[in-house]
Amino acid sequence: MIAIVGAGAAGVAAAVALQEQSVGDEVCLLGAEGVVPYERPVLSKASLTDPLAADPPPLDPAGLTERGIRLELDSEVVSIDAGAHTLVLAEGREIAYDRLLLATGAEPRRLEVPGSQLTGLFYLRDLADARRLRPALHASGRVVIVGGGVIGLEVAASARRLGCDVTVVEAGPRLMGRVVPAELADAIAALHRTRGVTVRTSCRPVAFEGDDERVRGVVLADGEVLPADTVVIGIGVVPRSELAAAAGIATDDGILVDEHFRTSDDSIFAAGDVARVHHAGERRHVRIEQWEPAQEQGRCAAMSMLGAAEPYRAVPWMWSDQGEAHIQMAGFDFDDADVVVRRGSVDDPEGLSFLAVRDGRLVAACGVSVGTGVARAVRPAQRLIAREIRVDPEELGDPRVDLRRLVRQRAGRL
Ligand code: APR
Repeated sequence: MIAIVGAGAAGVAAAVALQEQSVGDEVCLLGAEGVVPYERPVLSKASLTDPLAADPPPLDPAGLTERGIRLELDSEVVSIDAGAHTLVLAEGREIAYDRLLLATGAEPRRLEVPGSQLTGLFYLRDLADARRLRPALHASGRVVIVGGGVIGLEVAASARRLGCDVTVVEAGPRLMGRVVPAELADAIAALHRTRGVTVRTSCRPVAFEGDDERVRGVVLADGEVLPADTVVIGIGVVPRSELAAAAGIATDDGILVDEHFRTSDDSIFAAGDVARVHHAGERRHVRIEQWEPAQEQGRCAAMSMLGAAEPYRAVPWMWSDQGEAHIQMAGFDFDDADVVVRRGSVDDPEGLSFLAVRDGRLVAACGVSVGTGVARAVRPAQRLIAREIRVDPEELGDPRVDLRRLVRQRAGRL
């Protein structure tokens, strides 16, 4: 029996691949939530603003049970006995496995300051969180968002859409510091400001104040108080690797896995937000907190569990919708680029993008557009990165050059 712990993007993609590819193995997917696995990205967007889209779509529209997967909802795994090959559930039941995939994801990092127990403070990760936050935002006048990352900015745009007065408080010197380079962060901040969001960088809350147990304000280091009736905290996530660590599996900011998603225990694999995987292209371990790579990792881990020898080398790609602003990023980082090419502008249909070139090859790309136009730059860039195609920075920076056509031409010559 193949067991998968965690029914998010990685776990579900793995379960589907295993069910389709394995011969004779039972596939059991265990989820701690009591609902059929759903798409998480909408929780910070339409689920908050659109009355017709309050509930997110299922992750597998074909139906996991209909495919023959044994789906165990409301089944929190509390320990793994790696020697005996068994899982222990919160209710006490035990489940035996032959091979195990850990796809336990990540959870919001908590902000512990005076007043953090007040009501009116929210985190956003799962459906239950979105169901709590939605009515609060609808009833709210002043919203303070703590953390100018992916979650904070998506919720900021949603709250503006609902007519709230919104201030984003970011500890770092710029927005989305984990994900995008400074050049793009400035353009993103400008878009939010144009749409009425107040953006405060290099600024962090030291306390929350309130009356009758309800939050009324966010206290900053210099004593300034930002009035708020709702506070949303999005200050990053921590991998849920305690189960693995308690079972004696090697962890280091996530569960350590090789390029085949195998942990330090031969029968146990890990994928998705919780995994720190050895990337064959980068030749280092990476932990990627993104939706599309989680699905890709789930599928790759499934194939490894069935004996495939292909190492993980996918180029990660992510997007974030922040109101009409659409952001995409492909590849790893901009830090060691020889040249960063700037292409287009926010007002162009294809938007503004930045392309990082090292040793004559593209290594990362990101951009923003109003509408989804920037996909026309970042998606082909992802393919140029994956295929290690030689590029000319001048050509890349010329917005008349269609990058999709460039990929077709160059890939044909490989
Ligand atoms: N006060 C203000 N800002 C803070 C503080 C603090 N005390 N601590 C951290 N921050 C900022 C960070 O500098 C960073 O810009 O919070 C931001 C967190 O951004 P992300 O790392 O993108 O995390 P988050 O927005 O919480 O998203 C969590 O959800 O959709 C996924 O891919 C996304 O994995 C990510 C996850």
